[in-house]
Amino acid sequence: MNVLILGIDGYIGWSLAMHLAKRGHNVSGIDDFERRKNVESVGSTSAIPILDMEERISSFKQIHEKDISFYEGNLLDYDFLQQVVRETKPDSIVHLAEQPSAPFSMIDREHAIYTQHNNIEGTLNVLYAMKEYVPDCHLVKLGTMGEYGTPNVDIPEGFFEIEFRGRKDTLPFPRQPGSLYHLSKVHDSGNVHFACRMWRLRSTDIMQGVVYGTRTAEMVDDSLMTRFDFDEWFGTVINRYCAEAVIGHPLTPYGSGGQKRGFIDLIDSVQCIRIAVENPPSRGEYRVFNQLDEIYSVSELAQYVVQVGKKLRLDVKIQPISNPRIEKEDHYYKVDREHLRNLGFRPTRRITETVEIMLTDLIKYRDRIMERSEVILPRTTWARGTGERMAEPRIWTKATALPQHSHTAAADASSYPHPTSSFATSSES
Ligand SMILES: NC(=O)c1ccc[n+]([C@@H]2O[C@H](COP(=O)([O-])OP(=O)(O)OC[C@H]3O[C@@H](n4cnc5c(N)ncnc54)[C@H](O)[C@@H]3O)[C@@H](O)[C@H]2O)c1
Repeated sequence: MNVLILGIDGYIGWSLAMHLAKRGHNVSGIDDFERRKNVESVGSTSAIPILDMEERISSFKQIHEKDISFYEGNLLDYDFLQQVVRETKPDSIVHLAEQPSAPFSMIDREHAIYTQHNNIEGTLNVLYAMKEYVPDCHLVKLGTMGEYGTPNVDIPEGFFEIEFRGRKDTLPFPRQPGSLYHLSKVHDSGNVHFACRMWRLRSTDIMQGVVYGTRTAEMVDDSLMTRFDFDEWFGTVINRYCAEAVIGHPLTPYGSGGQKRGFIDLIDSVQCIRIAVENPPSRGEYRVFNQLDEIYSVSELAQYVVQVGKKLRLDVKIQPISNPRIEKEDHYYKVDREHLRNLGFRPTRRITETVEIMLTDLIKYRDRIMERSEVILPRTTWARGTGERMAEPRIWTKATALPQHSHTAAADASSYPHPTSSFATSSES
């Protein structure tokens, strides 16, 4: 199949490109390196070094003997996008090219507008390019479980049957997201559904849980690794815990730690997207997959990292900090996830195995994380809905770091700045 990956330089995009190419698909990709620029703008970098796109592709070709084509450009540039679509004639477009961080979208008005503009307009351009040039193509669109929020009822896969005042219908399940980034995804879902109903496009809208992990089967060499972010904006919760664990910082769950989310290993995320690509819906069909493996609370995750850390002789402690995100910390969370399983998805490994691989990979890059350690603790707050910066951010710096393996829980509590007012929370992206 001809597969065009939008966002091929990203965490999932690069991993997916290699997976699909190895599987025999003809893979092309678009990216304009927004992610690299945004991470740099907040003073951070990928803990795992990554090559530039040309070097990545040439190393992949050398090692795996497969080609990947790359087009540098922005989805907001419609002329560029339509030219690539016409040239590559995709059977499937996997759309990952969005600003994926909730805290980044909540920094201030500019970041919120940037996020919604980039994501919503980019997706609209993709829908128009499909309508005009490849109406039979299948759009695999990456949404997020965060679109649903945390309702006090089970979460179905996109739609539910409802009876209201004596009449019945099957309707989109209500969305109540917790950030302006997540709202951009809700808007995308509405636009994609609309395009399927009005223009008979076909799409799989994937409500994905938080993705974690450093490796897929194709990453057999350092030159093929994907990015790994650990800052408050782009590092998801397991990433930040793992980064903290390797530099001897206590793990910092936000608030009481009872926030539950769906999680999926990177190796399974690319497996699921491949399954969606290889099993397209019919013309005019809009289907929703909830793409997650297990559900954990953020404190359970911290416990797993402590447990695996012990095995690797890391002395890992937990030090919760205040939660500035406006979110439920103790709530019901049950999610349907049968569609992908019915198409053959089986999880590859347990979370503790993956955390062990992550910690082992990161230990090699401890110095890179140490150098930027001030980006781990959160400074962006959801407070009063303004996303304002804290007046005096209490950031953990190298100067306050404890030597590795030597701290105790009591030392943790007294030696690390402990936020007393609003601090930002876990970054699902
Ligand atoms: N990583 C997760 O935990 C997670 C969870 C749920 C959903 N998702 C969704 O999956 C998708 C991929 O996530 P990721 O973690 O790989 O993110 P990522 O930021 O690493 O990848 C996105 C890529 O798209 C590119 N991009 C963004 N806007 C662009 C534009 N306008 N034009 C061209 N390129 C552009 C970026 O440069 C980046 O390389 C995102 O849509 C995200 O919202 C991710």
